Amino acid sequence: MPSTRPKAQVDCGFDDLRPRIEQALEQACEFGSGCPERLSEAMGYALLAPGKRLRPALVMMAAECCGGAVEDAMPGAVAVEMIHAYSLIHDDLPAMDDDDLRRGRPTVHIKYDEATAILAGDGLLTQAFAHLSQHVAGSNKAVSAIRALSFAAGASRLVGGQADDLAAEQNAKQLEPNHPESAGCQDETLPRPATSEYPRLQHLESIHRRKTGALFSVALDLGAILVDASDEQRQLLSSYSAAIGLAFQVVDDLLDYTAEATTLGKRTGKDADRGKLTYPGLLGLDGARQKAQELVASAQRDAEKFGDSGRRLRLLADFVLERSH
Ligand code: IPE
Ligand code: IPE
Ligand code: MG
Ligand code: MG
Ligand code: MG
Repeated sequence: MPSTRPKAQVDCGFDDLRPRIEQALEQACEFGSGCPERLSEAMGYALLAPGKRLRPALVMMAAECCGGAVEDAMPGAVAVEMIHAYSLIHDDLPAMDDDDLRRGRPTVHIKYDEATAILAGDGLLTQAFAHLSQHVAGSNKAVSAIRALSFAAGASRLVGGQADDLAAEQNAKQLEPNHPESAGCQDETLPRPATSEYPRLQHLESIHRRKTGALFSVALDLGAILVDASDEQRQLLSSYSAAIGLAFQVVDDLLDYTAEATTLGKRTGKDADRGKLTYPGLLGLDGARQKAQELVASAQRDAEKFGDSGRRLRLLADFVLERSH
């Protein structure tokens, strides 16, 4: 089904890289002769769906601004998009956010079935590491890349952030006296959100930095690792990525409140309905926008330190703030 989503109106700084990313992703959709056709199809459906490709682009941008060749970063670009695609499949499952629309198309469990969606996620997650082990030149570099990506995708980062995102939603439900799922749950032993907003904001920031920020950070770090960047370059990139990763999820929260599903390619208005802990929920729309602006301004200052070679990073930071999908 062709996507009806409009093209980005803001220059995101990597339109020239996009065809190379798409080609590499297509070539990576070869999952071995033992992979059942339906599973392989579901994995390809998720991976090749029309996403923005920000994370693979960041891998390549980091390589470039550290003075390396973008092609050397391609295995990292593919691997990070595989992790992202798996995380979206699982995020959309009925047991998690229960969504039926992703990238303008039915989610994987709607198009196929729930078991196939779970397994397609498992397959892509594993394939990301197989891809790095097969395509990164040099075993030391491959191990460094696998170590960095497995940490970012693991239980203390992406997976832990997702777990705490769902736990916060569950807490909110239990605190609503009339919510059907809170019947009989008003009990002193239940965890409760803190009474003042500050600890909740801190908790929210920790969730967003882990569930979303970690993959942005490792995307830039992978690019640096794959072209042997200096420690100083990696340090600068890590400051940029921490700001841009959090800003991205703050804007994602904002778009859930303000955008249309046809533009966004996914359902909107769901965070508030589900009682998610979000920036607009805690700070209001203006407060959340201001938070995103501050983070992007900080990322811009880091990108400027790369001089001309940081041009794409600056454009991407603007895109993160101004994007409509
Ligand atoms: C969606 O990420 C999931 C979040 C972390 C908010 P993107 O908005 O980058 O999704 P695609 O890849 O463009 O579909
Ligand atoms: C998703 O966050 C984060 C990951 C998939 C790891 P959201 O649940 O806010 O993402 P969307 O809004 O469904 O894309
Ligand atoms: Mg979610
Ligand atoms: Mg979701
Ligand atoms: Mg969201």
